[in-house]
Amino acid sequence: MSKEIVESGAAILEFDNKLCIHSRHCVLTRPDVFVPNAQGDWLHPECASAETLLHIAKNCPSGAIVVKRKDGGEQEAAPKVNTVRVLENGPLAFNADLTISRTDAEPVSHLRATLCRCGQSRNKPYCDLSHNAANFIATGEPPAQTSQPLMQRDGSLSVKPLANGPLVVQGHLEIISGTGQTLQRGEKLFLCRCGHSANKPYCDGRHSKVGFIAA
Ligand code: SF4
Ligand code: FES
Repeated sequence: MSKEIVESGAAILEFDNKLCIHSRHCVLTRPDVFVPNAQGDWLHPECASAETLLHIAKNCPSGAIVVKRKDGGEQEAAPKVNTVRVLENGPLAFNADLTISRTDAEPVSHLRATLCRCGQSRNKPYCDLSHNAANFIATGEPPAQTSQPLMQRDGSLSVKPLANGPLVVQGHLEIISGTGQTLQRGEKLFLCRCGHSANKPYCDGRHSKVGFIAA
């Protein structure tokens, strides 16, 4: 079981270890709620308000943390602008009303997810930090391309990992750099997940030449 669920009077806190990319926003923001290196229980939602827990969840890029409020306050909602952030030498961080459809599994929905772009994850399409061991080098500040503002910026976003090929992303999406610069906007984008494109974050067909194998 990779998922832990702990409930307080105010909220339900879910943590999925298989999704966590150890960006450490949680343990640095509230080390009393997320107790690093604890012997035994390490999740303590009773130490924070539901509002604070939700704020921490929204800052968790991987979607490993999900908070459901029990106090009647607003739950996490889909963003007003769908984005994917290109992380330096790391994954693609999505924030959208996202559904990931795979041929080998049931569709899964997320509001936040970090997806592998180095090709090495053992938990594809999710990042599992294999980019570190693989010494994956890919800028988080690729050149911006000319694109027109989208008429609509939110709505559902579909991500389909193509067998042995890229992520096909359909819906309204803005690609932004690690520092927040708009790189591209589109409604159907093919994003590299083999790690070999010469035009990252976009697929340039190299997955065939390098023999990329992924469901
Ligand atoms: S990815 Fe989320 S759960 Fe993992 S360390 Fe970062 S904020 Fe915490
Ligand atoms: S998936 Fe990497 S070049 Fe196509």
